[in-house]
Amino acid sequence: MKIAVSGKGGVGKTTMTAWLGDYLARQGHNVWLVDADTALSLGQACGLDMAEMPTALSQRPDLVQERIRPAGQGGMMMLNPHVSDLPEVLSAPLKVCGPPLGDRAMGEKRLLVMGAVTSANGGCACEASALLKALLAHLVLERNDWVLVDMEAGVEHLGRGTVAHVDHLLVVSEPSMRSLQTAGQVARMAADLGLKKQTLILNRASTGQADNLPALENLPNHCVRLPVIDQLREKQLHSASVLGLDLAAQGELDAFMKNLLCQLGR
Ligand SMILES: Nc1ncnc2c1ncn2[C@@H]1O[C@H](COP(=O)(O)OP(=O)(O)OP(=O)(O)O)[C@@H](O)[C@H]1O
Ligand SMILES: [Mg+2]
Repeated sequence: MKIAVSGKGGVGKTTMTAWLGDYLARQGHNVWLVDADTALSLGQACGLDMAEMPTALSQRPDLVQERIRPAGQGGMMMLNPHVSDLPEVLSAPLKVCGPPLGDRAMGEKRLLVMGAVTSANGGCACEASALLKALLAHLVLERNDWVLVDMEAGVEHLGRGTVAHVDHLLVVSEPSMRSLQTAGQVARMAADLGLKKQTLILNRASTGQADNLPALENLPNHCVRLPVIDQLREKQLHSASVLGLDLAAQGELDAFMKNLLCQLGR
């Protein structure tokens, strides 16, 4: 299944992506975690040191040139560049942190970093963007693994149609009017692109708040509530990783993930 995670800034998109990726790998699935945010924080949230971080695709003008305008093609731009080897070439392995769930061997998690597409680094922005889109399309349409895309805050990415082909959109929001309004905008834009399977993740919310959401237009019909995970708040002061929590916090998260996957039909 291919999932994009979107929502307003700071609502917990990266945390959610890291947690879901770990849960799925613990169930035995192979998972691609795709950092499509320019802030590049998914690797750290998954416990990767900066030194182990894979190079972002946007930082590889050599690859962009080689795949988009290959030698011997008279400088022609390839509309259908060869990308099937790139996920393995560009990614780094991530450690699965929680205990296994069920009898299957743990799956593999790999991190792929897209990076900011600008005209810096000697490349042309439209060429880097074409390769990035082709790579994302390959992962989403041609791989059987789970793919989780951690997106930039807001609606920009959806506007560019980068994630048009994913199966499901998780719209993360806090229980606040501004955050829910952005969630509604994200959900509407995604629906306009044909991505109608959507779930609202109400993060850091009490049951009272979840039961009393304002009647805003366009919010996804299904909502799953995630409470504040106190141990994460303490841990964040000393660690960028959101994984490796204690048993109580892990149990709380596992119950949430079970419920969420049920919503996704898994
Ligand atoms: N349920 C939760 N309980 C406790 N802390 C949380 C929870 N969800 C997220 N956080 C914390 O909130 C902060 C923001 O989360 P995160 O970085 O995942 O947000 P984001 O939406 O990806 O932000 P950005 O828009 O900057 O990419 C992090 O410090 C994270 O650890
Ligand atoms: Mg983030």
